[in-house]
Amino acid sequence: MPRFETIDTLSALNERATGTRVLVRGDLNVPMQDGLVTDATRIERLLPTILELTKRGCKVVIMSHFDRPKGKVVPEMSLRALIPCLMEIFGGQKIAFLENPLGETAKEIVADLPNGGIALAENLRFFAGEEDNDEKFARALGKLGDAFVNDAFSVAHRAHASTEGLARIMPAAAGRSMQSELEALETGLANPEHPVVAVIGGAKVSTKLEVLTNLTSKVDRLVVGGAMANTFLYAQGTNVGASLCEKEMAQAALTVMNNAAEVGCKIILPSDVVVAEQLKLGSTGETVHISAVPPNMMILDIGTNTAQAIAAELESCKTLLWNGPLGAFEYPPFDGGTRVVSRAAAELTTQSKLHSIAGGGDTIAALASANTLSRFSYVSTAGGAFLEWLEGKELPGVAALYG
Ligand code: 3PG
Repeated sequence: MPRFETIDTLSALNERATGTRVLVRGDLNVPMQDGLVTDATRIERLLPTILELTKRGCKVVIMSHFDRPKGKVVPEMSLRALIPCLMEIFGGQKIAFLENPLGETAKEIVADLPNGGIALAENLRFFAGEEDNDEKFARALGKLGDAFVNDAFSVAHRAHASTEGLARIMPAAAGRSMQSELEALETGLANPEHPVVAVIGGAKVSTKLEVLTNLTSKVDRLVVGGAMANTFLYAQGTNVGASLCEKEMAQAALTVMNNAAEVGCKIILPSDVVVAEQLKLGSTGETVHISAVPPNMMILDIGTNTAQAIAAELESCKTLLWNGPLGAFEYPPFDGGTRVVSRAAAELTTQSKLHSIAGGGDTIAALASANTLSRFSYVSTAGGAFLEWLEGKELPGVAALYG
């Protein structure tokens, strides 16, 4: 049973949903190019909540931020540009636009919506009160609705008026996407089936130090890949040639390894790697043992033996958390490690032998390019929020729902 309100339990909706004005916080901070949405996953994730509320006759006001206008009106960051994409995903339904969500006109537009109608509020970050989590601003926004539904886990690490403040001042619940995210993450880290393996890749130890530190105390096996692994290898005295390596983080890497050893968390580092002189399209790689990295070459992926060893580790685990690519996957052939390991994870997931959760930053792109994304048990669309959750931090937007 969730310890937070959901659409099922929120009394403001159960007493009489028809005509109830519901503020839905989504994350419409989607990638766009030339005015068009290039990846609508976050909008698609909002669909179940929107459909459910509109079918029940609620008047839905969608709220979101877009980019970082820092309290100023930046026309290129207007959410108006998203209306065609929203309409397409929400089944062609008309969407009213609230240019000034704080004004009287906005209230009138919402009042005039038909039951089951939808309005979209302008980018809330055009107002300084949003990021300041200003209570007056939240109360003014709150006048547009009778209840608040937060469906934006990916912004839950921000204590802003529309992610945290509103939940404190009006009846609030998690939307369907937030609910599945919280339930998936609960089974991933708070209450997982052991053994748990975490695969953490990416370029820099410095950006993931807190993640690594938290995970060593929670998981049974920790795979470190990507350029981050170079710093760990360097800290152990391995010659990493011309590889990307944060030498100043070597001590921090040793501390992670010592902490892991103390609590019995096995750290898995590459034993062989793919190296090349340059990272560019068309480069060819050469696989070498980790003790034989030539001084003029860079480590750009884990080697075949390492990928197979990680895949074998997955077979003995029940839960997988994945964040970050294992190599420079954007530049084949340096995508091989991510592909082999993620295929093994996808296969075990399909056979119901592994519960696999992935999220954060480049992870989705890396798994999508390996064609394995859809076979993971759960994929979070969150970047920073997923990382902060892996760090073990309390997310203000989630905490506010727990009351
Ligand atoms: C994201 O894209 O991770 C979220 O929309 C949060 O955006 P922000 O980092 O600008 O707060």
